[in-house]
Amino acid sequence: MDKKSLMELLDSLTLNEKIGQLSQVHPTVLFEDGIVTGVINDNTFSEEHIKNIGSVINIFGKDKIRAVQENHLKNSKIPLLFMADVIVGYDVIFPSGLSQGCTFDPELIKKLSRISATEMAADGVNVTFSPMVDLCRDARWGRVSESYGEDVLLNCKMAEAVVKGYQGDDLNALDTVSACVKHFAAYSAPVSGRDYNSVDMSERTLRQEYLRSYKAAVDAGSEMLMTSFNTIAGVPCTIDKRLVKDILRDEWGFKGVVITDHGSLGEQYSTGHGVASNSAEVAKFAIDATVDIEMAGDCLFKNIQNLIQEGKLSEDQIDAAVFRILELKNKLGLFEDPYKYIDNDLYEKIDRQQNLEVAKRAVVEGSVLLKNEDSALPINPESTKVAFIGPYLSCDVTSPVWSFHLKNRIVGPTMENYLKENYPDSDFTYSFGCPILDNGDWVSEFCQEDNDEYFKNEDRYIADAVEKAKNADIVVLALGEHYAYHGESKSRADIRLHKIQRDLVDKIYEANQNITAVIFSGRPLDITDISKKLKSILFVWEPGSMAAEGITDMLFGKELPSGKLSMCIPYCVGQMPIHYSELRTGRYAELGQKHSFGSRFVDAPIKPLYPFGYGLTYTTFEYSDLKIDKTTLTPDSEITVTVSVKNTGQRDAWEIVQMYTHDVVAYMVSRPMKELKDFKRVFIKAGETAQVSFKITEDMLRFYNYDMVYESESGEFEVFVGPDSETTDCVTFTLEK
Ligand code: BGC
Repeated sequence: MDKKSLMELLDSLTLNEKIGQLSQVHPTVLFEDGIVTGVINDNTFSEEHIKNIGSVINIFGKDKIRAVQENHLKNSKIPLLFMADVIVGYDVIFPSGLSQGCTFDPELIKKLSRISATEMAADGVNVTFSPMVDLCRDARWGRVSESYGEDVLLNCKMAEAVVKGYQGDDLNALDTVSACVKHFAAYSAPVSGRDYNSVDMSERTLRQEYLRSYKAAVDAGSEMLMTSFNTIAGVPCTIDKRLVKDILRDEWGFKGVVITDHGSLGEQYSTGHGVASNSAEVAKFAIDATVDIEMAGDCLFKNIQNLIQEGKLSEDQIDAAVFRILELKNKLGLFEDPYKYIDNDLYEKIDRQQNLEVAKRAVVEGSVLLKNEDSALPINPESTKVAFIGPYLSCDVTSPVWSFHLKNRIVGPTMENYLKENYPDSDFTYSFGCPILDNGDWVSEFCQEDNDEYFKNEDRYIADAVEKAKNADIVVLALGEHYAYHGESKSRADIRLHKIQRDLVDKIYEANQNITAVIFSGRPLDITDISKKLKSILFVWEPGSMAAEGITDMLFGKELPSGKLSMCIPYCVGQMPIHYSELRTGRYAELGQKHSFGSRFVDAPIKPLYPFGYGLTYTTFEYSDLKIDKTTLTPDSEITVTVSVKNTGQRDAWEIVQMYTHDVVAYMVSRPMKELKDFKRVFIKAGETAQVSFKITEDMLRFYNYDMVYESESGEFEVFVGPDSETTDCVTFTLEK
């Protein structure tokens, strides 16, 4: 439909029909067994209104979608949009966002979202509530698992890749969907890491660091954006005109659809943020902020008509919002044919095996080898007696939490089943070890049966594990954080492994000191204590459908883990929030070693256990000969920085080479000690040396200066190139403007 016809369609609508477009209803409004992914407070829609609604959330399956659309079109001339949380794949489940961040491979991550789009579009989903690009620096926050980690540049690159992967070149194509970047803004920085808690940060930090990845998604063309639950400086983001209208739309030029998060308009009264005394006020705030769709709430539906009659809102404002929604439906081709995505057999024809292969690559590229003393890994499965012990061996819940609601998701075999089937002749033994959760844990009901059986026979279980550990050359412990301990509303004050698993490490260590731990987790954990007892540590996060095969291949050296940390592994929870790109402070921590007035902890180091960008593999790399081609940079020139990276080990392998800069002195504004400016994933054959180059241009050095203008400043810069954020190898140049 051309723009004129779309305008005519808009003009032909009654006000009620228009208001309908602004409502996204929850499936439970339409039928009883709908999936529930959030709090449902206000759902008091009239039957008339339900006939006019514009979109629905989390309805899956072609048949169901067809039935809902058919029913809807009996009463409405505007097709419904089907939006859903397809966060880590649809049928083929990929590793968590955090793990995807660890790949440092935006091209691969684009492929993942391309696959997701192909699978979901062929099953009738039009919009996915992804990417989640909230910058995460506090591992207590339960949703770090969904993010790409702590770094601005990495988040931006991933945001762009994912949006392009979902949306492709043509939204009208049968294998593309609309992206919806979220949660705008700074949802990831709640005080004390507690989900939904207030966010308070300077405008400089907000703009310089937290807003950047949303903007990258917007610049990449994201058709939709979701506001967040939190307040910033006391103002709830979901109704903040300054954030949504002034920054997102006017400053950044976003023309797409803005949707609230689940029921968030209903959280503004005195029982919530306390910024409005009734829903009419909230509806006005939201429309004035240019919010278009209310997800799972009735605030807009109940109030817009009156607000217009009272002259508090204009119909033009509603028209603008409705037009944006109609435009999106039009781009997706729903006016031509509301059934175009499901009237075909594309879903049945998808090559899932091929998609699973890509998922496996993501497992391998996103897993991070933190430690590998005495080259304990890889293991030769032909000649080594291995005792596989631990609750994650037989656990089939190793996919990210945001996949549980997807009925056709591919769960994949457990590690134990996979090993037994594929290595029947190897000298392997298996033992449960202990449950994932401690006895009496608040979520024990999730696995009550396993736990009851275990605690009745605890001694027998432990004896079995210890016996098998004693008789093995090497123990592989499969440990992890229970899935109920991360995700939305799952913040933690203690980010260690559950005690029962830490105790298991102690008991096994007494029997055999050659231990490799494979750690499944939604967040960076505090593993400081147990790490001393482990020879090798492989963090596999939440790996998804290809967990067993991907991990087994890494353990046996068929594949080399090549991820680097997208969030540091802290030394202890007291360091939170922590990130590598901190300011130096006037009393930098090193001073604390000389006298007592450094910026430090008296009872813990200030450095994390493993820094951002860190990760090993089954070879070693030597960096040398860092060079810069010029020592002066001007706004119309560029500088090339080159480093030699030699693979000094026996295996061909990938290395992620990272370039950081430091702006040594800036007028009145302290600058981070290091900022990642570029990275490259390079494949280097054993014994060979790669020359890796990076370009630096003036625009890469801009920041919000004292007057809050985004520009660079003349002066000296340091450039660091190395294998992680603690690299000290550096050259300098001067920016002359
Ligand atoms: C989450 C969003 C999600 C939405 C819909 C909310 O509670 O914050 O990330 O997309 O629910 O399920």
